[in-house]
Amino acid sequence: MNASPLTDPVALLRWYADAGVEDCSLEDAQDRYALSARPAVPATPERIQPSPARGMGEAPATPTAPVAPSRRAPVPLESPRLVEDARAAAASANTLAELEAAIRAFEGCTLKRLAKNTVFADGVPGAPVMIIGEAPGEDEDRLGKPFVGVSGQLMDRMFGAIGMSRERDLYITNILPWRPPGNRTPSVGDSAICVAFTRRHIELARPKILVLAGAVAVKNLLDTEQGITRLRGKWFDYTLADGRRIPAMPLYHPAYLLRAPGGKRQAWMDLIAVAKRLEALAAG
Ligand code: URA
Repeated sequence: MNASPLTDPVALLRWYADAGVEDCSLEDAQDRYALSARPAVPATPERIQPSPARGMGEAPATPTAPVAPSRRAPVPLESPRLVEDARAAAASANTLAELEAAIRAFEGCTLKRLAKNTVFADGVPGAPVMIIGEAPGEDEDRLGKPFVGVSGQLMDRMFGAIGMSRERDLYITNILPWRPPGNRTPSVGDSAICVAFTRRHIELARPKILVLAGAVAVKNLLDTEQGITRLRGKWFDYTLADGRRIPAMPLYHPAYLLRAPGGKRQAWMDLIAVAKRLEALAAG
């Protein structure tokens, strides 16, 4: 019989690790004395909350236990000072190499302390197409390069199908240069800090076309709350600080396509649109 997570602590830890929970600590210091001094929360039926909508393909969670309110101290969504620091550090960089050095030297994002590597970019600096994803995953964090895991391999195949490669035509980065623990979705605060660097990255790389892979890139660079399903396949203008505009195409994230291969047909059409736009730009 297999060990059960209910009775075997090692099995419980393995179960957490399989679910992507790798950190036993929270990002913010907790005052345990204050927490234990609080009255216990009564387990009344009113405290049972419906589970929020979940991602495609996941079974809905059954609320079996009362859900206590979060005991975490409220976390400010973003720190304006850290965002300002990131903007100043980004603005001080005049080349891609200086920007990389500025990001590596920046200590204002807690994710950096938890990550193994700073993941800056891959591909050809100055390439016509710049792809911007979400954040490094486990493989990217280990190897220090963006999109080198399974979703990156799918992305290489997708762009290969329109004759583009990271050795020749693509420059690749992420909104976040540091892996969020357990691959969680980046917080608004983390993104607000890191996108200051991404914006400067775009200015210095000066691509002809931006491909925004997934909801996090779209939300942060196009300042929209609309979902990727509505936005993909449409062209948007990304405006640089000097007023210059770059055509930007939202694309399904390859990790999503691995879970929902039905979206590949739309992604293929979007890639064809990218190739055609590039051809048109090259023709003048
Ligand atoms: N997903 C991303 O968004 N970026 C990576 O670099 C890897 C996976």
